Amino acid sequence: MKRIGILTSGGDAPGMNAAIRAAVRTATRLGIETVGYLDGYSGLVRGAFVELDDRSVGNIIQRGGTIIGTSRCPEFLDPEVRRRAANQMQADGVEGLVVIGGDGSFRGALALQDECGVAVAGLPGTIDNDVWGTDESIGFDTAVNTALLAIDQLRDTGESTGMMFFVEVMGRTSGAIALHTAVAGGAAGVVVPEAHEEIDHVIARVRETMAKGKRSHIIVVAEGDEAGGAFGVAPVVGKALDRPYRVVVLGHTQRGGRPTMRDRLVASEGGAMAVEALAAGRSGIMVGRQGGHSVEVDLREVVTKGHPPVNAALLRLSQALSG
Ligand code: ADP
Ligand code: F6P
Repeated sequence: MKRIGILTSGGDAPGMNAAIRAAVRTATRLGIETVGYLDGYSGLVRGAFVELDDRSVGNIIQRGGTIIGTSRCPEFLDPEVRRRAANQMQADGVEGLVVIGGDGSFRGALALQDECGVAVAGLPGTIDNDVWGTDESIGFDTAVNTALLAIDQLRDTGESTGMMFFVEVMGRTSGAIALHTAVAGGAAGVVVPEAHEEIDHVIARVRETMAKGKRSHIIVVAEGDEAGGAFGVAPVVGKALDRPYRVVVLGHTQRGGRPTMRDRLVASEGGAMAVEALAAGRSGIMVGRQGGHSVEVDLREVVTKGHPPVNAALLRLSQALSG
C-alpha cells in the first residue's frame, strides 16, 4: 500500500486530531503517504483533500475539533455517489481509507468496501459513546468532563439559592453522556432516551430529599429524551413539586475543547492500529477499546448490532446514590 486517505465524519469529537496525527505518523513510519479528505464523505465525493505529513499534523494533539473538517453528507447514501467517490480515490492513487466517526460513518465505509472494493478501517469518534464493540469512543471522556465542569459550577449557585437545575447534555438517541455525567457529578436525577420511568423516579426522589433538608437539586437530561429534553422534563417536575427551576442547555460546548488524556491516548493507539491493519492487508475492521485495550473488531458486526444498550447498572447506581 502506497497511499491512504483519512476522513472525519458526523459530529466532531475532541481527540479526532490526535487520531489523525497518530495515523499519519504511523503511515510515514511504514512508508505510506497520507491524504486527508476534507469535510468527511463530502471531500471524498468532490476529490477534495490535503496532503498530510509528519509536520502538518504537528501541534494538533491538544486541539479539539478536526483539522480536516467534518460534515454529514446525505449524498453518500446513494450507491452511484459512492461509486464516483471510489473512482476518484483510485484516480488519486489512494488504496485504503481510515474513517473516524460513528456508526453512520461506518455504514458508509462498509458500503464502500462491499460495493467498490475499497479497504477501510474505522475508528469510533463520537462524543455519544453509542458505537457497538467499544467501551469508549474518542471524545466521550472529554464531553463528560465538560459537562461535569458545568455541573460543579451550578452546584455553587444551587446551594446558595436553593434553585433546582435541569442540565441538558447531548445524546439524541443515547443516554451515555447523561448517565456518566449524572453519576460522576452526583446529580439528584437523570433522564435518558433509553428508559421510560425516570421522571416519576426523579419527582419521588427530589420530594423525599427535600423533606430531609436537601437544598439544591441537579437533574441531568439527555437531549433526546422522549419528554422533549430538559425543556420538556423541567416543567413536569417543577409543577409536580411546586418548585422554581432553571434549564441549562450545554449543547455544542460538549463537542469542543482540549481532549482529555484518556481521549488522546485512545485516539493515538487507535489511529496507529487502524493504519497498521490497512498496511497488513486487513479491511472491514474497527479499532475499539475493550477492557482497557485497543482491539480490532469486525466492522460489519459493529453496524449490524447497532447502538449498545443503556448501562442499566449505572442507571440504578445513579438512582441509588441520589440522597
Ligand atoms: P455518525 O457517523 O456520528 O453516526 P451520521 O449518522 O450522521 O453520524 O453519519 C455520518 C455520515 O455517514 C452521513 O452524513 C453519511 O454521509 C454517512 N452515512 C450514514 N449512514 C450511511 C449509510 N447507511 N450508507 C452510506 N453512508 C452513510
Ligand atoms: O453525534 C454527536 C452529536 O453531538 C449528538 O450528541 C447530537 O445530537 C448531534 O451530534 C448534534 O449534531 P448537529 O450538530 O449536526 O446538530
